[in-house]
Amino acid sequence: MNKKGFIFDLDGVIVDTAKYHFLAWQQLAKSLDINFTEEENEQLKGVSRVRSLEKILAWGNKTISQDLFDKLMGDKNEEYLSYIAEMDESEILPDVPRVLKLLEALDQPISLGSASKNARTILERVNLKSSFNAIVDGNDVSKAKPDPEVFLIAADQINIKPEDCIVFEDSVAGVTAANTAHMISIGIGSKDVLGHANYVFNDFTEISDDFIKSLINN
Ligand code: G6P
Ligand code: MG
Repeated sequence: MNKKGFIFDLDGVIVDTAKYHFLAWQQLAKSLDINFTEEENEQLKGVSRVRSLEKILAWGNKTISQDLFDKLMGDKNEEYLSYIAEMDESEILPDVPRVLKLLEALDQPISLGSASKNARTILERVNLKSSFNAIVDGNDVSKAKPDPEVFLIAADQINIKPEDCIVFEDSVAGVTAANTAHMISIGIGSKDVLGHANYVFNDFTEISDDFIKSLINN
């Protein structure tokens, strides 16, 4: 059987952590008297922690010292981790385990390619760490999505050429990163937002076993 590399983003693909990022960023914004909305939170999907804080400050027209910036980054992450600590397997998004098990049964290498520095902690919480042959996250890269670095390293770690990789992504920047890496991009979310992906599905319940097999055989 052919071997393809299957690369999964984490936040918004395997688990819905956007709600926890939102709560933590909202608390931070409130402490700075900035009104932070769910629509703005949408725009932070796939965006690194540093860049997210820069964007929130810009939306609120605030300038702060580097010291305060660093402190707020730490506070935000502590708050976020307090939500993560409560996560368990029930938070894995529907049909993700089915697809992971199918890929494993078909002997296909699986990588994680996430911007999050908390990716390993989250995978442990939801008991999925052993499903991945390689894990590449925000600690391993110097360039954030839409730069393809995270996916290129993820492909390299499973010894699969970029053009033989398939990426599951929920963010605009992530789909662009996969396309730039010459990988097949599969958007998880709305066609209106992820129209630049090769394929788009609302979630994994729409991804059939036959579709996965066709990706492997193409
Ligand atoms: C993912 C999320 C972003 C988050 C980023 C960094 O891409 O979609 O919302 O800002 O990871 O996450 P971290 O856990 O390192 O703060
Ligand atoms: Mg994501």
